[in-house]
Amino acid sequence: MDKENRLKQIAGYINKMPSLPISVTKVIEICNDPRTSPADLNRVIRVDPVLMGNVMKLINSAYYGLSDQVTSLVRAIIMLGINTVKNLSLSTAILGTLSTKDQFQALNMDGFWRHSLCVGAAAKLIARHIKVDQKNLENYFIAGLLHDIGKIPLNNKLPGEYLQAISISDRKHQSLVKSETEAMEINHTESGHLIVHSWKLGEEIKDAVVYHHSPESYEGKNKEIVYAIAAANYFSNYFEIGFSGDRYPEKPQEFIFTELGVTVDWFEGIEETVNEEINKAKIFLNMKK
Ligand SMILES: [Fe+2]
Ligand SMILES: [Fe+2]
Repeated sequence: MDKENRLKQIAGYINKMPSLPISVTKVIEICNDPRTSPADLNRVIRVDPVLMGNVMKLINSAYYGLSDQVTSLVRAIIMLGINTVKNLSLSTAILGTLSTKDQFQALNMDGFWRHSLCVGAAAKLIARHIKVDQKNLENYFIAGLLHDIGKIPLNNKLPGEYLQAISISDRKHQSLVKSETEAMEINHTESGHLIVHSWKLGEEIKDAVVYHHSPESYEGKNKEIVYAIAAANYFSNYFEIGFSGDRYPEKPQEFIFTELGVTVDWFEGIEETVNEEINKAKIFLNMKK
């Protein structure tokens, strides 16, 4: 298959990908307003039975270990916190609409989402560390969650070629992004670009998705988030939290870590918190490991 044909196939797949449910877009929008109260959030969530069910399921899960069942949605939102509700509604919407077990071909889905959640949680902790404005914190989580989203169309639409890319990586001990270009003439940062563009998720998230494997060459105005996602991705691979097909990832250049003021020791310190965040999300996503 030639490059043009391949691109057409991938673009076609992306066009057919479901967009985010309106209720989730609304949740994100109102959570971005610092004056939002649990009552405001309640008004949006209560009209979406799936979303509401998920919030109730989470607060009443073993993870929170409450002795009495919570039955009021507002109470659940207050107890979980606005940000948790927002993160989890977005994660469920994205993961729920995009992936079912049989769609996934070359990559293992649980490992992939675990990796994505890890990068989201770690990126948000980096954002706190570098004192990013409170209202921008969630963008870091979302960018981390979505950074490898471009692997989905490659893996699902062209699974044979994707397996080939993975085996090139194994044979040559080189990063998956490089092997994708070799095997398919398109890599997951390019297909990811198409997806975040069609979802209208904004410049910050787009730049993070496009440049997470080449932060050194980024020259736009969103350096902080691009560097944070590159570093969080490295952290996730280094500590092997989840697996996104990259056995030989390239380490970003040292200045990326220096600019953020993070080291391997610092990452070790956040590992437990990151795992807690993943565990919360797992309740929603029915992940096994
Ligand atoms: Fe990646
Ligand atoms: Fe990644």
